[in-house]
Amino acid sequence: MTEAWQRDGRLDPALQFPPWSPASRPLRAVLLTGATGFLGAFVLEELLRRHPVQVFCLVREEPGLEEPGLEEPGLEEPSQPGAARIHRHLQSLGLWDPAFVARIVPVVGDLGLPRLGLEEEAFLALADQVEAIFHCGVVAHFLRPYAALRAVNVGGTTELLRLAGTGGSRPFHHVSTLAVFFDRAGFDGGTTVGGTTVGGTMVSEEDDPEPQGLRSGYVRSKWAAESQVREAMQRGLPATIHRTSRITGHSQTGATRSSEDLLSRMIKACILLGSYPVLPITVSMMPVDYVARAIVHLSSMQQSLGKTFHLFQPAPIPWLDLVGMIGEAGYPLVAMDYDGWRAKLKQAAMADHPEREALAGLWLLLGPDSALLGGRPSHKTPNSDLCLAGSGIQCPPITPALLRCYLAFFRQRGFIPAAAQ
Ligand SMILES: NC(=O)c1ccc[n+]([C@@H]2O[C@H](COP(=O)([O-])OP(=O)(O)OC[C@H]3O[C@@H](n4cnc5c(N)ncnc54)[C@H](OP(=O)(O)O)[C@@H]3O)[C@@H](O)[C@H]2O)c1
Repeated sequence: MTEAWQRDGRLDPALQFPPWSPASRPLRAVLLTGATGFLGAFVLEELLRRHPVQVFCLVREEPGLEEPGLEEPGLEEPSQPGAARIHRHLQSLGLWDPAFVARIVPVVGDLGLPRLGLEEEAFLALADQVEAIFHCGVVAHFLRPYAALRAVNVGGTTELLRLAGTGGSRPFHHVSTLAVFFDRAGFDGGTTVGGTTVGGTMVSEEDDPEPQGLRSGYVRSKWAAESQVREAMQRGLPATIHRTSRITGHSQTGATRSSEDLLSRMIKACILLGSYPVLPITVSMMPVDYVARAIVHLSSMQQSLGKTFHLFQPAPIPWLDLVGMIGEAGYPLVAMDYDGWRAKLKQAAMADHPEREALAGLWLLLGPDSALLGGRPSHKTPNSDLCLAGSGIQCPPITPALLRCYLAFFRQRGFIPAAAQ
């Protein structure tokens, strides 16, 4: 039987997309969602650096979130509502450039509301101004039920598709997740032998993921949103879909907002406990600057329209190699079997450990079989192979230097303690 979330994958039949033809001049204005998030901030910077565009950013203005003033020299007091949040966020990730001020246009709204929370007139005016839409906004919460994520993740996508077809069609660039393939019971991620994944399901950019078997509310909501975008493409919308795997910090600065992801929490817990679990798995890290560059580059090519792209780390490394790199970076760790390490984690989380909340959060996420960290399928990427060829855009490898860069950023933010001398 089809469940409600699967039915949400059907696009409103009223939405139609008139034929589109590209302008013969460079883009002037685009709409971006999620600029105050992790990936969205890097996409914003990439758009501003690579293209002479104005970027309209849909941003929530929540009471208490708006910062009164900005102390950074050269940072003007923002005059438009929502601007302070974007400015401060870019600043916190080392992305701020005072020259951006005039080119970032905040649009205060909400993905979870009809017409993005805008009055009819403002919605139509926005459609009139923007020539393309980049959709990175999301509520990314693995433990919340589908119903709690539906309005923003699915409804927000519907409203953006409505905008994309208002007064003519405009290209729509949608960020999705590879978890629409992986997050299912019985998914065969292959077996790790000597650090290499053998066998397992082959996932292709040309596959449409089946909804059956998807487990988490978050991934269900991503599937439903993506399914709507695919249907819009069938109705003529010029669009691209970018399914990404886990995104990690900037390859040169380590800047990240995602220190709450599973791998970062694992690294932190290993450092705090002075030990690591022996796991026969590979781990993947994909720097955010690579992802943002690839998305903006692919989205600017006409031959990309109508295609789906998979962005992932092509050379994951054995967990034990990563642990070795952590040790070399000044955090010597002792090996433990997985059950013993989980028990130690639980003990620390229940004791008076200063970081007990972080440790307890990880313990809740880690199952007895460490399934969340395992399994990397094989990939077929005909679209990325074609459209990224010759661009020089490649996912950086996972090296000791990359890991040191990440640890330095974690230290600077107080996420992990100083290394042993
Ligand atoms: N990060 C990863 O490892 C990863 C992996 C696979 C796929 N992805 C995909 O990449 C995209 C970006 O993810 P991310 O990690 O950058 O997410 P994120 O850091 O959690 O950022 C989410 C963004 O969406 C905005 N947002 C949330 N609710 C909103 C609402 N009601 N109205 C307007 N804006 C709202 C947030 O604004 P506020 O600041 O106001 O909350 C924030 O700017 C998503 O499509 C995600 O599924 C990410």
